[in-house]
Amino acid sequence: MALLEILQYPDKRLKQACDEVVLFDEALRTFIADLEETMRAGPGGVGIAAPQVGRLEQIALVDVSAKKKIKHHGRLVLINPEIIEWQGSVVGREGCMSVPDFTGNVIRAETITLEAQDESGERQRYEMEGYEARAVQHELDHLKGMLFLDRLVSRRSDLFKRKVYK
Ligand code: CO
Repeated sequence: MALLEILQYPDKRLKQACDEVVLFDEALRTFIADLEETMRAGPGGVGIAAPQVGRLEQIALVDVSAKKKIKHHGRLVLINPEIIEWQGSVVGREGCMSVPDFTGNVIRAETITLEAQDESGERQRYEMEGYEARAVQHELDHLKGMLFLDRLVSRRSDLFKRKVYK
């Protein structure tokens, strides 16, 4: 396993749409293990997307299980993911390892239905809400070349300088 380098805004690779994964092999699982180690080593550590380490493929990890009193699905490997239903909308504060100096208020769907392949290539479907749904929407944006910065209604009122990133 290896820690991977996190690209930071405004690296151009963070602005590119990612390719679909077609090969579910040992090399993919090794990359996922490295990506997970990198996520867990980082501040926040609830999600990461492959383009954040320079791999432009539709792979994201989310694990919000460390947060208390919320519904979640544990460790999620999301390959070629797609949100097929959205409901509600809610504003919440987000941060990103690729934008370490800021947080921002972003509007997200409150509940989503998500389809994605797992690391074996099996198609899975999830119903999720709240914090987990927000984390997933944030990571899926990365796969389309979008950052939370692109979703702020106003940089003047919705962007906040971080003091310490923990
Ligand atoms: Co991010």
